[in-house]
Amino acid sequence: MTMITIMGGGYLKLVHAFFILSVLVHLRPALGFISGVGVGDANNISCLEGESQALIGFKKGLVDDYGRLSSWRSEDENKNCCNWEGVLCNNQTSHVLELYLGFDPLGIFQPLRGMISPSLLELPYLTFLDLSDNDFKQTHILEFIGSLSNLKYLDLSRANLTGPIPHQLENLLHLQYLNLSWNDLKIIENLQWLSCLSSIEYLDLSSTNLSNVANDWLEVVSHLPNLTTLSVLGCDLPPMSLSSLPHLNHSKSFTSLKSLDLNDNQLVHIPKSLGICTKDSLEVLKLSYNQITGLFPNFAIFPSLKEIYLSENKLNGTLPKSIRNLYKLEFLSVSSNFLEGVISKSLFSNLSKLQYLDLSNNSLSLEFSFDWVPPFQIRDIYLTSCNLGPRFPNWIQTQRNVSFLEISNTKISDTIPAEWLADLPPTLKLLNLSNNHIYGRLPNVSTKRLNELAIDLSANSLEGPLPHFPTNLTVLNLSKNQFSGSISSLCKINGQLLAYLDLSNNRLSGRLPNCFMQWPKLVILNLAGNHFFGEVPSSLGSLSMLNTLSLNNNNFSGNLPLSLRNCSSLIVMDMRNNRFSGNVPAWIGERLPSLIFLSLHSNMFNGSVPLHLCWLKDLQILDLSINDISGTIPQCLNNFTAMAQKGNSFFESTTPYSYDNDVTYMKEYFDSVMIINLSSNKLIGKLPSEIFSLLDLISLNVSRNNLIGEIPQMIGQLKQLESLDLSSNQFSVEIPSSISEINFLEFLNLSYNNLSGKIPSGTQLRGFDASYFIGNRALCGPPLTQNCLGEETPSRSEANTKDNEENEDELGKWFYVGTRFGFAIGFWGVCSSLVLKRSWRHAYFLLLDNMKDWLYVTITVNIARLQRKIQRQG
Ligand SMILES: *[C@@H]1O[C@H](CO)[C@@H](O)[C@H](O)[C@H]1NC(C)=O
Ligand SMILES: *[C@@H]1O[C@H](CO)[C@@H](O)[C@H](O)[C@H]1NC(C)=O
Ligand SMILES: *[C@@H]1O[C@H](CO)[C@@H](O)[C@H](O)[C@H]1NC(C)=O
Ligand SMILES: *[C@@H]1O[C@H](CO)[C@@H](O)[C@H](O)[C@H]1NC(C)=O
Ligand SMILES: *[C@@H]1O[C@H](CO)[C@@H](O)[C@H](O)[C@H]1NC(C)=O
Ligand SMILES: *[C@@H]1O[C@H](CO)[C@@H](O)[C@H](O)[C@H]1NC(C)=O
Ligand SMILES: *[C@@H]1O[C@H](CO)[C@@H](O)[C@H](O)[C@H]1NC(C)=O
Ligand SMILES: *[C@@H]1O[C@H](CO)[C@@H](O)[C@H](O)[C@H]1NC(C)=O
Ligand SMILES: *[C@@H]1O[C@H](CO)[C@@H](O)[C@H](O)[C@H]1NC(C)=O
Ligand SMILES: *[C@@H]1O[C@H](CO)[C@@H](O)[C@H](O)[C@H]1NC(C)=O
Repeated sequence: MTMITIMGGGYLKLVHAFFILSVLVHLRPALGFISGVGVGDANNISCLEGESQALIGFKKGLVDDYGRLSSWRSEDENKNCCNWEGVLCNNQTSHVLELYLGFDPLGIFQPLRGMISPSLLELPYLTFLDLSDNDFKQTHILEFIGSLSNLKYLDLSRANLTGPIPHQLENLLHLQYLNLSWNDLKIIENLQWLSCLSSIEYLDLSSTNLSNVANDWLEVVSHLPNLTTLSVLGCDLPPMSLSSLPHLNHSKSFTSLKSLDLNDNQLVHIPKSLGICTKDSLEVLKLSYNQITGLFPNFAIFPSLKEIYLSENKLNGTLPKSIRNLYKLEFLSVSSNFLEGVISKSLFSNLSKLQYLDLSNNSLSLEFSFDWVPPFQIRDIYLTSCNLGPRFPNWIQTQRNVSFLEISNTKISDTIPAEWLADLPPTLKLLNLSNNHIYGRLPNVSTKRLNELAIDLSANSLEGPLPHFPTNLTVLNLSKNQFSGSISSLCKINGQLLAYLDLSNNRLSGRLPNCFMQWPKLVILNLAGNHFFGEVPSSLGSLSMLNTLSLNNNNFSGNLPLSLRNCSSLIVMDMRNNRFSGNVPAWIGERLPSLIFLSLHSNMFNGSVPLHLCWLKDLQILDLSINDISGTIPQCLNNFTAMAQKGNSFFESTTPYSYDNDVTYMKEYFDSVMIINLSSNKLIGKLPSEIFSLLDLISLNVSRNNLIGEIPQMIGQLKQLESLDLSSNQFSVEIPSSISEINFLEFLNLSYNNLSGKIPSGTQLRGFDASYFIGNRALCGPPLTQNCLGEETPSRSEANTKDNEENEDELGKWFYVGTRFGFAIGFWGVCSSLVLKRSWRHAYFLLLDNMKDWLYVTITVNIARLQRKIQRQG
């Protein structure tokens, strides 16, 4: 399988998400089109010459990079088009009836490109046309499609089409299925043409902006007599649409509607009228990702409801008892609202069909009697942040068909249920018990299973040695517990699927086993905060997909193994606080081109800073502090182009590793976090002026070295700088006045150098503590008490007036700066310490803590997470 990339926000995200979902479950209704005859297997039927020509003509418009149409050939022995890939002929008349060139569930073919040729018009009996999931390079939907008058099924979804939807589609009187979703289409005037499609059963316009035509449009579709499925996901439907429609009350509206997908719009109410018109038929109602406020609706008026999606809204109050009457209910998804209160077992007593329950991220308490046995065998349970404790719920252990189980942060304070763990349901794919207070020794987790499984037991109080785990693990997160002993037993996880291994912050010890070659798909490896020692084993070099390697805060020693050169996907390499020694390897620069974060802080590295580090063009955090590094600071540092080019976040350059929500999250923190720390080494020479072209640098620390020379005026260019530590070097001459132009400077330490002269009068500088200027040869002026030669101490009143003037000026400046960040700023003296909540320090630590969550990738992880995400969204 390939790596799947989810990037950007909004629709794109959903598009990709849906793509993945459809890979997993082919959702499209069959509509009875696919007949007994296999596509492209027509036995004795032989294609009509004209139609074969038409198809060849159609092929000519396409670019077929992956040979999907390689069977479409006109030589004699191949020219029977009824045998061609994706073509279905009528078994009596031999006319071409159906063309399947859309979404390929087996994932063999990549998209076709090019244009949709009008030669399709020469297939007069065509009833089924699926061109979804192709790339028609932003062409328009062609009007001629409206002349394919026998069409019953038309799928042009996700085909990269743009422009207006042609009203000629109104001629498709037999159309039963129309899917135009996930293109970039526009509604020019109205959608009156839809009213002609009286046979339509399935209509999907998702991601088409309907904000201008919302009400008109609704009236049109509400009168389509056969419409059973309507999807307008992500159509920007405005808050009030649907609510104020007089005609909707009419009992002739939406008479057949079974499934209504209004996810991801801007609705604030659930339209009451909907209940009147659809009450007996409606089975699926999707309203997640809107702004719906108020109490949870009474759905008892829809007795047929099977699926309710209301996640990510603003509902409050509790879950009403009326839910109990929806005995056909299979899916209930209400996560991330403001629901509260206690739920008792009676709510579920009649919901025997329930398969999917997501109540997470509300303030709900589930109080069931301990021995309650639910009437359902559920498939997916998400109860994150509900209150289930303090005992480990017994009813969950009765669910033998569960595949996703997430009960993180549910106030469970109990011993780990050992018997259950030793005999987990064979269907289980995700077990998430993180952020509870589950204690005791972890028993062996049932190992005889074929399914892949993700286990997250992080942030509990588990102790003792690591037990045996199933071979087919994809994710293992045991961080923040008290596990101890060696990790050799993990080598038995040899299903080659492990993508994420986080054992950080435990009491594990010993040397690392040399078995990393068993985990070729590993993307995240976090062993930080344990007592490991010895050399890092060379098999780490087999992890060519690894993008996060955190070995920090252990006792590792020796050189970094040369084999790490093979980990060319690394983005984050965190070796802080160990006892590694040897030269700073040049291969880090040569072979790990994607690095964004590199910390060798507090080790015993020696030698000089290799010039090759300058090759790391995406580097944003470089920390070589507290080592034994000598020589000069390389001039080429301005090669860190990510830093030099303002506003260039690493996402643009390394998108393959991004992962939906985390992208936005990371972006927020990484966007402008650029840090260089070379402090506490034995560096000599001058600060290279090139460093001052790193315009987005926000922290520079070269303290405790043997640097000499002037601090150049150019330093004033570093407008984003928040922290500058040049202390304990031998910088000489004066402090450049430009330093007072750095508006964001929150921390400045120039102590213990050879500086002399007046401290520049920029008010900010004077706000810093005097201790950050002491130990110099001859600095004078505030905040130091020494006056500069020839300057009298101004009289008290004079000084005050002067300061006040300055302050007002400064206030204006700060205010300007402040509004840029959306918060108002008061007096400068206060500001210099409080301003800038986006403080780099915060970001930096956040970065270190959450590294693992960010780069949470790989197909296995993604699929598991997206799968449920999409299920949740509905
Ligand atoms: C329309 O196509 C999209 C993407 O190809 C698919 O996810 C969706 O289920 C289809 N809609 C209907 C109603 O079948
Ligand atoms: C011909 O096709 C129809 C439906 O399209 C099918 O019911 C019938 O079995 C087919 N006949 C043969 C001989 O394959
Ligand atoms: C939809 O169209 C309206 C009006 O043209 C516009 O204000 C809005 O930004 C559009 N929405 C999106 C998501 O493009
Ligand atoms: C629910 O929120 C609304 C405002 O949106 C408020 O008026 C109402 O009192 C809240 N109800 C409960 C039960 O909290
Ligand atoms: C429970 O469900 C059954 C159908 O499974 C239904 O006939 C019965 O009325 C329901 N009972 C209650 C109290 O809702
Ligand atoms: C268990 O789940 C599978 C699919 O996940 C389903 O086909 C089967 O019917 C379920 N069994 C029970 C007893 O619910
Ligand atoms: C477990 O749940 C927590 C909280 O919802 C979440 O942050 C974490 O990513 C989940 N773990 C897995 C493996 O999905
Ligand atoms: C590193 O890669 C080289 C060639 O690409 C290969 O020969 C070597 O075995 C790899 N080392 C490890 C430890 O996988
Ligand atoms: C700058 O980086 C590029 C690769 O990104 C490298 O080829 C070049 O040699 C580097 N320049 C210096 C001066 O190191
Ligand atoms: C610079 O690094 C040294 C350690 O090398 C540290 O003590 C000091 O606090 C750092 N300065 C800043 C501003 O973080």
